[in-house]
Amino acid sequence: MNLKNCFRPAVLKMKGYTPGEQPKNLTTIKLNTNENPYPPSAEVLKAVREQADQRLRLYPEPTADTLRQRLSRVYKWPLEGILVGNGSDEILTLLFQATLEKGSLVQYPDITYSLYPVLAQIRDAKVKEVRLEDDWSLDFTKFSTQARLTLWGYPNAPIGNCFDKSKAAVFIRKAKGLVLIDEAYVDFSNENCLDLARKNPHVLVLRTMSKSFSLAGVRLGYVFGHPEVIAQLMKVKDSYNVNRMTQAVGSAALTPGGLAHMRKNIRRIRLDRNSLIEELRNLGFTVPDSQANFILATRRGKPVAESLYKNLKKKRILVRYFPHRRLRDSLRITVGTHAQNNRFLEELRRLL
Ligand SMILES: Cc1ncc(COP(=O)(O)O)c(C=O)c1O
Repeated sequence: MNLKNCFRPAVLKMKGYTPGEQPKNLTTIKLNTNENPYPPSAEVLKAVREQADQRLRLYPEPTADTLRQRLSRVYKWPLEGILVGNGSDEILTLLFQATLEKGSLVQYPDITYSLYPVLAQIRDAKVKEVRLEDDWSLDFTKFSTQARLTLWGYPNAPIGNCFDKSKAAVFIRKAKGLVLIDEAYVDFSNENCLDLARKNPHVLVLRTMSKSFSLAGVRLGYVFGHPEVIAQLMKVKDSYNVNRMTQAVGSAALTPGGLAHMRKNIRRIRLDRNSLIEELRNLGFTVPDSQANFILATRRGKPVAESLYKNLKKKRILVRYFPHRRLRDSLRITVGTHAQNNRFLEELRRLL
């Protein structure tokens, strides 16, 4: 028997997603996967403890209604227009599954979240990658108005910039398919695109608790959209796609105390982000302004970015290096605590 005959050719051809490294030890300075360096709120930790009882034998709420009510209140969005998922990654998977079949057109910038191409390959979809301009902006007129699905990040990873919303709005008015704006990092930025989704039923806004809420480990994402669009996605999801602990944690994170904790951490990270950018520019790196909790630092010449990445790793400082043609001279650095950023800069100066 040839096991290869058991799989779809599209799956056999693909390489799969490469996640950032997750070292087991806690002493590594992790500036590689855009996690929040600060712990979650006391409200969240209390909710975890309170959930750890005999109720674990019961299934969770299938559509997470208690949590969706909280989300609805905090974000002023109708409950029927919210879907929660096992991380925003699951919601992306559901969206690709619900909208794309073999040969359907999906489009996104050529440099963006690297999960999109993997999901497109799984569906065997036709992909249009729109090249980011040299200043990392996006020319929305280069997108096809006929695509089944269009995605971009706001802010866009791994650069951290936000695209021009008024130009996005012009494209959205003409687009025939769904448009998903991935706002994984939006809490660190000055603006968001919820208004675009309020005005246009074919626009979805994707959020996550992984970054601003310090909850990457619990896996909780949510999407805001038109109730009719959300109703289609609901049909595709697993019955109990978000576990009991995660639902409780999400609700706790959205209490006044939980939100205040998150906002305090965002203020610290934004301040540290700006000083980190300034320091790296002083060291000769080109660093675009960032609206996220990470920055992209580029520098041509020796030592090359890949060897900086490897040597930092030897010192137990992890940053992200992408072997992409246009990112070969760049490192993506997550903003850590003040002390972690200083330690990174100290080691970097030594290596330069
Ligand atoms: C742009 C973007 N979208 C979505 C995600 C996935 O987030 P989650 O942890 O909610 O699955 C990430 C994670 O790094 C991301 O960078």
